[in-house]
Amino acid sequence: MDHDEALIHVRRHYDQLGDAEWDRLTSSIAGRVSWEIHKRFAWRWIPTGGRVLEIGAGPGRFTRVLAGLGCAIVVTDFSRVQLDLNAQHVAATDAEQYVQRRELLDICDTGRYGSGEFDAVVAYGGPLSYAFDHALGAVRGLLRIVKPGGVVLASVMSTVGTWRHLLPAITGWAEVHGEDANDAILRTGDFRQAMTDQHAHVCRMFRWSEISTLARDAGGVVLDGSASNWASLADPEVLARIEADPDRWRRFLDHEEDACRQPGARDGGTHTLIAVQPAPPRRQDAMAVNADA
Ligand SMILES: C[S@@+](CC[C@H](N)C(=O)[O-])C[C@H]1O[C@@H](n2cnc3c(N)ncnc32)[C@H](O)[C@@H]1O
Repeated sequence: MDHDEALIHVRRHYDQLGDAEWDRLTSSIAGRVSWEIHKRFAWRWIPTGGRVLEIGAGPGRFTRVLAGLGCAIVVTDFSRVQLDLNAQHVAATDAEQYVQRRELLDICDTGRYGSGEFDAVVAYGGPLSYAFDHALGAVRGLLRIVKPGGVVLASVMSTVGTWRHLLPAITGWAEVHGEDANDAILRTGDFRQAMTDQHAHVCRMFRWSEISTLARDAGGVVLDGSASNWASLADPEVLARIEADPDRWRRFLDHEEDACRQPGARDGGTHTLIAVQPAPPRRQDAMAVNADA
């Protein structure tokens, strides 16, 4: 399956998923923790009142978070259905006044924006996991459109965290499709090579070493990283007891945030988060620009 075919599958998946995407981060404890970790990561790195491009915004949970930071937001998605849902969910709230406009956008195609146009770019929930062979060019494009000192925040699907979290389902899948296919997915993170079901959800998962290398190869400096979950992928019944007590839950979330940011834990959740800044121009490049001016 080539890149364009994969994109058709992905767009169809999100068009058909529709409003079910709205519940992804609230319907399970692991999802609620991932939601909290993603919010805290944004609060740490997005400048209050900054101009932000949100890519793959979906129905708008994080659009509202960005609005809560007083950001001026250009909301984008490559699914028309998800973009319309974003308008419905956000327009009903005060957050709408922070939305500058909504437009269709593929994360691989940011050429329409000016260099340094944004203080930050946010691509949460996997748009880079759908860039496949164009991921390096996509990250270069994101780094180009943020200001010097600006930040790109992304979260991608995690290869080994997903394996850990979905071991029963993945074991069953390997029994049907073969251990070689399973080995290939675990080695590359790329679901495309093994897809037989026309309606299956394809994506490219990453290890922390891969996404951080990609960010550096694209000309970025890695500022921060985190898993979306660590202890919160454990026994849901135990977690439910903790969640039922507000004080224990607050303490748990603080421990979880700390654990998820540890270098040894960044591969441990369903998703991996990364904060990247454009690398400052090298001294000799800056001198050459000044000489040309
Ligand atoms: C899992 S949802 C995440 C929504 C929201 N950002 C969140 O984290 O809750 C992924 C979104 O990315 C969009 N998407 C997938 N591939 C994309 C691409 N290549 N460019 C832009 N958006 C994409 C989908 O349409 C979907 O709305």
